[in-house]
Amino acid sequence: MFHYEAYFPEKKLLNLSVAHVVDYLIKTHQYYRQYLIPEIDRLLQLFLNSCDGKCAESELIRNFYDKFQHECIAHFQIEEDEEFPFILELNRVIETKADKDSFLAKYGNFVVRDFEEDHVNIDDKMFDLENIIIKYLPPQYDQNIGNSLLSNLFLFEKDLKNHSRIEDHILLPKVNQLLKSLDDHE
Ligand SMILES: [Fe+2]
Ligand SMILES: [Fe+2]
Repeated sequence: MFHYEAYFPEKKLLNLSVAHVVDYLIKTHQYYRQYLIPEIDRLLQLFLNSCDGKCAESELIRNFYDKFQHECIAHFQIEEDEEFPFILELNRVIETKADKDSFLAKYGNFVVRDFEEDHVNIDDKMFDLENIIIKYLPPQYDQNIGNSLLSNLFLFEKDLKNHSRIEDHILLPKVNQLLKSLDDHE
């Protein structure tokens, strides 16, 4: 799936357990937060510092990137703090045939969010950032560092696209399935 964009075995992935899918998603958030994002931060700083002379664009890129980075991290946090705990608890109630009243008392008003729009926003910003770096920067910036920075941005873009595809096309349908089962469940 990560190697071939056109390959997305939806049926197979829909058979995975919800707990498994959520575990995978949390682990990839950790990989982004602990490794990929700090690495991009580091390279961006090196890249901006490498500019020789007047580099008015640096501040613009810095601000754009900071906003983008905050948006990504806030997005992961909402999923981890609100969405995933709800999903795991819903899954537990269905799997163990537990009493649904206590679940409803806690989560009765919970509305499952559709994150597709957030995912598209993040993806668009990533694309804009790459384009600014590729097309609009004067050559006073170190090109080798720029290439390393871009490689990491491309890696993040690709990984995050697959990550979001799993959330939108595997996790969300599974949650809807579970919610239907909850309705039939005594
Ligand atoms: Fe996520
Ligand atoms: Fe997401």
